[in-house]
Amino acid sequence: MGISPHLVIMVDCLTHLIPMHIGIDFGTSYSAAGAIVNGELTLVRFGNAEQFRTAVFFPELVPDPNDFELTPDLEAQLEAQLRLARTQQRQEAAAASARGQIAVARSDDELKREALRVVRRQWMEDQTREAVASVASFQHALFGEEAVEGYLDSGGGNLIESPKSMFGYRLDPQVRKVIVHIATHILEHIRLTASRQFGTPVRGAVIGRPVEFRSSMGAKGSEQAIDILREAAAIAGFDEVSFLEEPAAAAMHYHKSLDTRQPALIVDIGGGTTDVTFAQLGGDEHPHIVRNWGLPKGGTDLDVALSLHSFMPLLGKDTIRVPQHQFVEAASVHNLPKQREFRKQNYRLIPEPFGSRLRALQELGATTRLNQLAERTKITLSTEAHYQAELDFIESNLAADTGREDFDAAIESFLQQLERTLGTVRSDLTQLPDSVFLTGGTSRSPQIRERVKQSFPEMPLVLGDPSLGVVSGLAVAASEMDGA
Ligand SMILES: Nc1ncnc2c1ncn2[C@@H]1O[C@H](COP(=O)(O)OP(=O)(O)OP(=O)(O)O)[C@@H](O)[C@H]1O
Ligand SMILES: [Mg+2]
Repeated sequence: MGISPHLVIMVDCLTHLIPMHIGIDFGTSYSAAGAIVNGELTLVRFGNAEQFRTAVFFPELVPDPNDFELTPDLEAQLEAQLRLARTQQRQEAAAASARGQIAVARSDDELKREALRVVRRQWMEDQTREAVASVASFQHALFGEEAVEGYLDSGGGNLIESPKSMFGYRLDPQVRKVIVHIATHILEHIRLTASRQFGTPVRGAVIGRPVEFRSSMGAKGSEQAIDILREAAAIAGFDEVSFLEEPAAAAMHYHKSLDTRQPALIVDIGGGTTDVTFAQLGGDEHPHIVRNWGLPKGGTDLDVALSLHSFMPLLGKDTIRVPQHQFVEAASVHNLPKQREFRKQNYRLIPEPFGSRLRALQELGATTRLNQLAERTKITLSTEAHYQAELDFIESNLAADTGREDFDAAIESFLQQLERTLGTVRSDLTQLPDSVFLTGGTSRSPQIRERVKQSFPEMPLVLGDPSLGVVSGLAVAASEMDGA
């Protein structure tokens, strides 16, 4: 296949231009990018939007060790492996007896187990190689809302939503590889879109990072997350990358709007994490970040909580004898192992109508749909008193009517955690801020604003742009790398 002449010309033009740096907000739910062009903040446009849902769809499947099954082919491999092991054992025994020694013989069962392990490992490696090769075939990947639609339409393949929430989890080497590839795709998508829009090759980036990534390994999780992003950015063509805490980036934006120097608290409540920064801002000096705090929880946790509170009872939660954790697994769409656990359950003997409903929820794409409805319900309830979510894909005419009081009850545990975090911030501070600047998509919810206000009642609450504050600050930081 030849290279398009247009592409050659474009690449040739780009290589003669000065490479530039962009700011990237790699968000749990939404990602955005921007740069300062001729002194003006310019956001990268993804189609018609200034951000895109952090989701990728690959038509092929990412391997799951639990899918290992002995096909006739693998049976043959197992037999061959076992024959080899038996021959080796006989040879070792013969060699030992020639030396007048007795070799320790392993039982046939042990040999079989060992052979199975070898075949299984080989299978997993082959699967991963295929998955990585398909992930590398860029032209098949879809991003953002298109990714979610592609997944729901195709009835197969693999949708990865919010990969950032997995960066800090214990990952075996194969899965880590796949996650790096996913992050690479997203970063490459951003880099190419930005290069096209700015008409110059984008080679460097300041990438936002939460104070604390969602993690199953404490601080190590954040280190791993940064390594993953660094590795992915390098493969995606970024030669120079640095990281800036997301609330510090949001502070940069607020800083520009303050004429006089003042201590300020920045609270960024996003999709996956809640980040807090205390900083000296405003005036002619640079912003000075004094201290950061993080709570690894955000809007996606509210969706899960709402789903458990308002939707899952329609599927039997609190009524039938299915352990609660299975409903949690079904609601946790961003946690692939939990989703697999849920799909594996057998609900054939569950009384009706719950058995059929649970089985419908096990169909491909159904948990994603349910989660989308939970998010839509949450967003609608930030301005309306009620929302009726249609659950036709579970059962015709099934609907969940959710009121604001349900939302209040569902998110109470998150609100308490938020309150505790802000309480810690308050007691850690030696000087109170002059203002509290609130940003992040979840800060659109009036209940959340209320709770932040209650923690700092004596200070004005300044509402920033909930979606674009972080990327704007990152763009400013990136322009400083350009020496602009
Ligand atoms: N009106 C609303 N009420 C409540 N939540 C909302 C509203 N609008 C959007 N959200 C939520 O905001 C979250 C996304 O916020 P944001 O874009 O700041 O997150 P992110 O940057 O992707 O995540 P993070 O910074 O945690 O990595 C989503 O969970 C979304 O559902
Ligand atoms: Mg964010």
